[in-house]
Amino acid sequence: MSNIEQTLSIIKPDAVERNLDSEIKEMFKNKGFKIIKEKKIQIEKLEAEKFYKVHETKPFYNDLCSYLSSGPIVVMVLEKENAVLANRELMGATNPQEAAEGTIRKKYGISIDKNSVHGSDSTDNAKIEIDFFFKD
Ligand code: CMP
Repeated sequence: MSNIEQTLSIIKPDAVERNLDSEIKEMFKNKGFKIIKEKKIQIEKLEAEKFYKVHETKPFYNDLCSYLSSGPIVVMVLEKENAVLANRELMGATNPQEAAEGTIRKKYGISIDKNSVHGSDSTDNAKIEIDFFFKD
């Protein structure tokens, strides 16, 4: 049975700043993802704090929110069979040093903070995160 899902992807400031957004989008398309919605924006720190609220007790929360709001980002709704998991596989481990060959973070990530992309970690969070950026 087919299980077409949507997930949220963010190309983070470190990658947009290095003009890697087209190459990263090609990596998604080559893996069969459809880019259903897409916009380039810069968000306020307060919005980043809302987006990453699940991490609010973590020691890296403040830096993470400052970073996500530090420059333009590209937010996208990606669609594919089992998109949430497929996107996590294509992104690779959170820490680029631990990411497998062929993944986006291995190829482009600089550090655990500047790891080039974000992707939803579950189908429930995918719905919440897509609504966060694309609620009409
Ligand atoms: P992301 O998938 O966007 O979700 C939260 C982000 O926090 C994560 O990618 C990392 O960029 C960042 N981060 C910074 N330090 C850590 C850490 N120790 N563990 C997990 N994520 C971290």
